[in-house]
Amino acid sequence: VTAPEPIAVELGPRSYEVHVGLGNLDATGELARAVAGSAAVALLTNPTVDALYGERVRASLEAAGVRATTIAIPDGERHKNLETLGRIWDRLAEARIERGGALLALGGGVVGDVTGFAAATWLRGVAFAQVPTTLVAQIDAAIGGKTAIDLPGGKNLVGAFHQPRFVLADVRTLLSLPEREYRAGLAEVVKTGAILSSGLFELLERESDRVLARDEELLLRIVHECAGLKARVVSVDENEGDLRAILNFGHTLGHAVEMLQGYEGLLHGEAVSIGMAFATGVSTTRCGLAPEPGGRLLALLGRFGLPTRIPGGLSPRALARAMEADKKRTAGRVKFVCLEELGRTRFENLATDDLAPMLASHMGVNDG
Ligand SMILES: NC(=O)c1ccc[n+]([C@@H]2O[C@H](COP(=O)([O-])OP(=O)(O)OC[C@H]3O[C@@H](n4cnc5c(N)ncnc54)[C@H](O)[C@@H]3O)[C@@H](O)[C@H]2O)c1
Ligand SMILES: [Zn+2]
Repeated sequence: VTAPEPIAVELGPRSYEVHVGLGNLDATGELARAVAGSAAVALLTNPTVDALYGERVRASLEAAGVRATTIAIPDGERHKNLETLGRIWDRLAEARIERGGALLALGGGVVGDVTGFAAATWLRGVAFAQVPTTLVAQIDAAIGGKTAIDLPGGKNLVGAFHQPRFVLADVRTLLSLPEREYRAGLAEVVKTGAILSSGLFELLERESDRVLARDEELLLRIVHECAGLKARVVSVDENEGDLRAILNFGHTLGHAVEMLQGYEGLLHGEAVSIGMAFATGVSTTRCGLAPEPGGRLLALLGRFGLPTRIPGGLSPRALARAMEADKKRTAGRVKFVCLEELGRTRFENLATDDLAPMLASHMGVNDG
């Protein structure tokens, strides 16, 4: 087992650690024991992840003397909803999960988000922990305490801030991720470098072959660094003020594209890649980003096989309307995350009336 020092998320009484390692999945039991003691816990996962890692986690829990009931929820974003949450509540009642118990989320961001929300609401709030198994979840979703479910009217509309008691990320679990999921996760890694760390960005450029080959040691370093950056942002800004909002780089357009496609077709990371390409253009024209770093960002996304062009069939005007509807706005203006240089951002208040023409010019079409 290779494991660097745990990362601290500093939130006073809600502080916790993020354990990033290679082969550290077996430490789940001990960490869970420290949270739940002898109380019953629920292990939430989905059939895909359960088949890959469920037995090992259950063995680790058993070895640590933790009594666990597995609750499997169906795989996929479309199940991150009220129906799934209702079933989880029923299962928690059957399993007699009490105030001193805990919920463990084993899986990607979908399992993590719904488990976190179930934990925030069960008995008015019980402890929970994250054992993320996707790149997106290890560097982003599992850290920070944002929990949610989707409604037919939009993603993540119902949720709560509820911090986990620990996060355990075994980077080796990423080796079984489908290629497309892995690459979509890389979009968020590229984002992290672009907004917060030029050193990370340069590492990704220099080692792009090893990144794509999922070299373990390199992945450990990258996940550890990204998780550390996310932890720092969350520690400073738990409730999503300005600092945390810079994590939305590439997401204003990304969310709009996802929404207009009915959340089918593109993966979130792919949509964010498209959003970052647009944000790079805006940064160049409005925020003084030099052409060279902008070109490097586009090249790195291309190197990782990520899309950068807005899918055909979406009109600038429809996209602009969807961007206005995104949560991060004030009347008539969109708070847009711009890059000033690699590793440095600022907000640019864009008039919503300017968006459609900017999109049209980015897409090389008329703004119809
Ligand atoms: N709470 C937050 O701050 C936050 C941040 C980012 C994203 N999210 C949420 O996270 C979700 C996306 O998360 P995701 O990208 O992890 O998607 P996901 O949870 O749907 O996982 C992607 C796919 O990979 C499978 N999988 C998971 N781990 C695997 C492994 N190790 N090997 C093989 N297959 C594996 C899953 O079963 C699923 O089919 C969205 O709902 C998004 O809203 C939340
Ligand atoms: Zn994202």
